[in-house]
Amino acid sequence: MSEKSTPERIVTPRPIAGAELIPAGDVGAAVDGFFAASPAARGWDVETAFDWARADAGRLTEGQRSAVQFITYIEDHLPGYFDVYHRYFPVDDTVDAETFVHNRELYHFTVRWAAEEDTHARALARYQEAAGMADRATLRTDLAVEGRKPFDLPYRHPVQFFAYALVQEKATQMYYQQLRDVVADPVLGEVLTRLSRDEARHFTFMADVVSRYLRVHGDAVVEPIREVIEGFRMPLADTMRGYWRWALRIADVAEYDHTAAYAHLVKVVDRAVDVRSDKLDELVRFIEGCRALD
Ligand SMILES: [Fe+2]
Ligand SMILES: [Fe+2]
Repeated sequence: MSEKSTPERIVTPRPIAGAELIPAGDVGAAVDGFFAASPAARGWDVETAFDWARADAGRLTEGQRSAVQFITYIEDHLPGYFDVYHRYFPVDDTVDAETFVHNRELYHFTVRWAAEEDTHARALARYQEAAGMADRATLRTDLAVEGRKPFDLPYRHPVQFFAYALVQEKATQMYYQQLRDVVADPVLGEVLTRLSRDEARHFTFMADVVSRYLRVHGDAVVEPIREVIEGFRMPLADTMRGYWRWALRIADVAEYDHTAAYAHLVKVVDRAVDVRSDKLDELVRFIEGCRALD
């Protein structure tokens, strides 16, 4: 895994301006697609989806246990991630009526997405407890150390939030699938299967929204997307103690390389437009150049 230099991020949190958004009808169509792909009948819950009595961390390597601890921290930071949407896409009278209509439509997604991510946090914490990795009170206190730290995505253009989440959801999905393929505890394998399927649906929503930005705004969203890739960090990379050491260690257990997800962003660009403009061509070349070479 290699790291590129970080450009200065714009640090002026403000609700996103209406003119840069896609029409509420587009968000509504993406939301409908997400819900159609997520019927309640195929939902799952922590209490009944797994045979917790069979969970056994004794079947995991030390590196795999470390990976479970790491992803529990990442998933448990949901309050911080969820709050980003409220700050940049407020659903109140701080935005004009048209922007509110857009944000209200988006909220249908974010509230459902947040419930699913919160379930991921609970499932991983329950696994740690059931498998004998941690007792609940200690884990709760440990998670709070990172959970209290602020999280922000200080972007200036709405497409950036969706482009960031597109890469992050796909990278997470890929990591969960790879980890599942190497762990010997079937209960953890089942948990990771559930989680990776959810992340795949989250990715699909983000890909749909980014595609709509490309179709509605064309070249105007190229530079904002380029900035996201240029400054990309996985969540908590800037705040978690020992993040890079830990991230490198768990990458030994299963590939954890967010740049592998960039190929999916390129596919989204290609599918969104019939013919690439010069600017889009340049963007694709830039994204491909950012992939870690191994
Ligand atoms: Fe998740
Ligand atoms: Fe997700």
